Amino acid sequence: MTDDFIFATLDLDDESADNTARIHGWLEAIMRGFHQGRATDELRDRWLAAVRVDGATNRGVWESSDLPLSDDVPVATFGHFVKTINTGAETIPAWMITDVTVAPTHRRRGLMRRLMTENLASAVAEGAPVAVLTASEGAIYQRFGFGPATREARVRVDTSARFRLRERPVDGGRVVMVDPTAAWTSLSTVFARHHEVTRGSVGRPNYYESWLQGYDWEEQSEDRKQRLAVRFGPDGEPDGFVSYAIKEGDAVEVKVRDMVTATPAAHLALWQFLADIDLAEVVTGPAAVVEPLAHALVDHRVRGVTAMPDHLWVRILDVPVALAARPWFGDDRLNVRVVDDLGHADGTFSIEAAGGRASVTPTADEPDVTLDVETLGTLYLGDVAVDPLARAGRITGTEDAIRRFGAMTDGSPSPHCNTHF
Ligand SMILES: CC(C)(COP(=O)(O)OP(=O)(O)OC[C@H]1O[C@@H](n2cnc3c(N)ncnc32)[C@H](O)[C@@H]1OP(=O)(O)O)[C@@H](O)C(=O)NCCC(=O)NCCS
Repeated sequence: MTDDFIFATLDLDDESADNTARIHGWLEAIMRGFHQGRATDELRDRWLAAVRVDGATNRGVWESSDLPLSDDVPVATFGHFVKTINTGAETIPAWMITDVTVAPTHRRRGLMRRLMTENLASAVAEGAPVAVLTASEGAIYQRFGFGPATREARVRVDTSARFRLRERPVDGGRVVMVDPTAAWTSLSTVFARHHEVTRGSVGRPNYYESWLQGYDWEEQSEDRKQRLAVRFGPDGEPDGFVSYAIKEGDAVEVKVRDMVTATPAAHLALWQFLADIDLAEVVTGPAAVVEPLAHALVDHRVRGVTAMPDHLWVRILDVPVALAARPWFGDDRLNVRVVDDLGHADGTFSIEAAGGRASVTPTADEPDVTLDVETLGTLYLGDVAVDPLARAGRITGTEDAIRRFGAMTDGSPSPHCNTHF
């Protein structure tokens, strides 16, 4: 059904007029797919520079039609680039899928299915242990073996006089307000430190560099309301930052766009900084599901969670490599059967865990527990434990085997991915 179309990879370096028109068409398709305005020249330049740095591979589907006006705009887009994911025990390559769109005129003809299955096959051919993506809807990607693996909270924190930390952070560090356009070195240092210590974190695409310097990708203009505070630890090194804007309304609100910290002290110090902003009585923004603030407050009710959407979806491609790279919590040995319709992760694997790590090898022995690859993705970073998945009928085995699997698999810390792509 997809034979009438041209499937091709966009050349990001060919600057000929024809290819430039294709590149512009590709970006136009993405902007349209995500309900954004038509791209300005400035946005095109910024986007092209950013995806070149990421080493993105962009595959599109063009229609060979007689309609000249639509020739350069693909009817489907699919991108990926490779960065890393922190599994909680190691940082391993992550095949990051992005910019998945299909034009409203071409839905449900199997375009996305073909792009996805071909892309996952290339990921396997290139040795990627896991693929990740974020999803605009909750029922699209399970069929390709992705499971929701982290969530991101949206919090609303009352920073009136009710906001009081049990102890004001005093470790010798300090918070400094800086010009967003002059702080990129500190911000990238903070993110690198955060990524190293945060289970579930994935590498950031290059668009963050201009976004954190005040370029608003949605409005396609400089956002002069963006403010930035960087926290420097007692050693003088940057260990946290918060990017925010003040919104005037019935109540003056501090809207956090991005907060990244590498230490609990930086996290609490930046919350104290936000609470100290005069005239504003509420702070809203994204946050980890489990974070120190909730437990550091005198009155924990000042931190309200207004939403908790799924965020990072994980697709295991290489079971022995991916599972050996995650943390394990109880010493035991079990045979785990993974069912994968696409075949990449299918098989029975012996998991032998000892001292927090495991060796994972294919086995011909009978399985103790059985689950599908989507469920394995959901378990991977520890956001969901074995027990509720088993009670939902998604992990099967004897009661004893399920209990032993949980004792091996479940453990803190809870994951947090604060990167959007
Ligand atoms: C989501 C989207 C990419 C799907 O593209 P598509 O080419 O229509 O999908 P396909 O025809 O290849 O469908 C593949 C399978 O996914 C299913 N599917 C597709 N979109 C779905 C949706 N929104 N919800 C549930 N299932 C969906 C199809 O029913 C089909 O299932 P089957 O093969 O088991 O029968 C497309 O609708 C789109 O561009 N949406 C707007 C942008 C967006 O949401 N992108 C995702 C960003 S993460």
